[in-house]
Amino acid sequence: MKDMMILAIESSCDETSCAIVKNGCEDIATVINTQIDIHTLYGGVVPEIASREHLKSITLVIDECLKKAKMSMDQIDAIAVTYGPGLVGSLLVGIEAAKTLSLIYNKPLIKVNHMAGHIFANNLTKKLEFPLISLVISGGHTDLIYMKDEYSFEKIGGTLDDAVGECYDKVARVIGVGYPGGPVIDKMAKEGTHEYDLPIPLNDDSYNFSFSGLKSAVINLAHNYEQKGLEINKNNLARSFQDVVVESIVKKTVKAIKDYKVERLVVAGGVSANSAIRGALKEACEELKVECYIPELKYCTDNATMIGAAAYFAYKQGNLADENLNAVPGLNLV
Ligand code: KG4
Ligand code: ZN
Repeated sequence: MKDMMILAIESSCDETSCAIVKNGCEDIATVINTQIDIHTLYGGVVPEIASREHLKSITLVIDECLKKAKMSMDQIDAIAVTYGPGLVGSLLVGIEAAKTLSLIYNKPLIKVNHMAGHIFANNLTKKLEFPLISLVISGGHTDLIYMKDEYSFEKIGGTLDDAVGECYDKVARVIGVGYPGGPVIDKMAKEGTHEYDLPIPLNDDSYNFSFSGLKSAVINLAHNYEQKGLEINKNNLARSFQDVVVESIVKKTVKAIKDYKVERLVVAGGVSANSAIRGALKEACEELKVECYIPELKYCTDNATMIGAAAYFAYKQGNLADENLNAVPGLNLV
């Protein structure tokens, strides 16, 4: 197969991004316009504002990406776009832009699941081999996926309530340290010690997770201290919370690796930027003599590069779309 240059667009949440990726593994150029500063003012992503911001920047981001790559549209073989899961208004901005490019320049249109993108972010560092277990941890997901081979996804477990990133963000809001909570809590935890007793969530033999009980326990603890006029040590609370999250994630992931007898773990999603989770999973994999793929930090949170990487494999599977492509906010990975 000749080299394939894919121009990919990602706009599912609060990042507008365009990337050009060669053969699903080489980042030729990436441009990301993040809206974090705007949403921080509201303590979380405001969907209506997110879609307006995507509208403002989508053409600029595409233009800048082509310039950065020193390429023109006639050197592009296909257009790829995230069509779900995500915020409907945000997704539609990327989808309409991709459809327009595909129509004007007569290029195939590849539809990509955002979560597949997170998994294939790892292919930008090292070629993925199969079978494998993927742990997908983000603001909206906490899933364990068995991939028998390229572009086949079997969900074997997931969160029964909150996603792990969502839990980080809510805890951060309650203790008043801003949005997004993940990176802040991660940093605070490094300064703290494990002082507070918190329940290990869903400590059973399934591949499922549950974080809402842990979130409530942290919130109740913070409120109790406040009511008693006592000051809680926020760094120690962050550390105690993070230790419990790490323990739960590692336990379930190790079980999946052992039960499915795979030799590879692939970590994916925004929460894979977490230093404690990265460290603990690498250590667990070393003990199990299992290869551990974790994305480079720049590919952990939302970007179009990962969509361009996944698109190469989606294309091989025939995941093509036309002008009828619509956003699927609750899209599952199957
Ligand atoms: O994958 P992503 O960019 O968006 C979704 O697809 O959801 O993930 C965003 C999530 C947020 O909840 C954010 O708090 C979390 O990833 N996150 C982290 C860290 N960096 C980002 N969570 C824990 N530790 C981090 N260092
Ligand atoms: Zn994401």
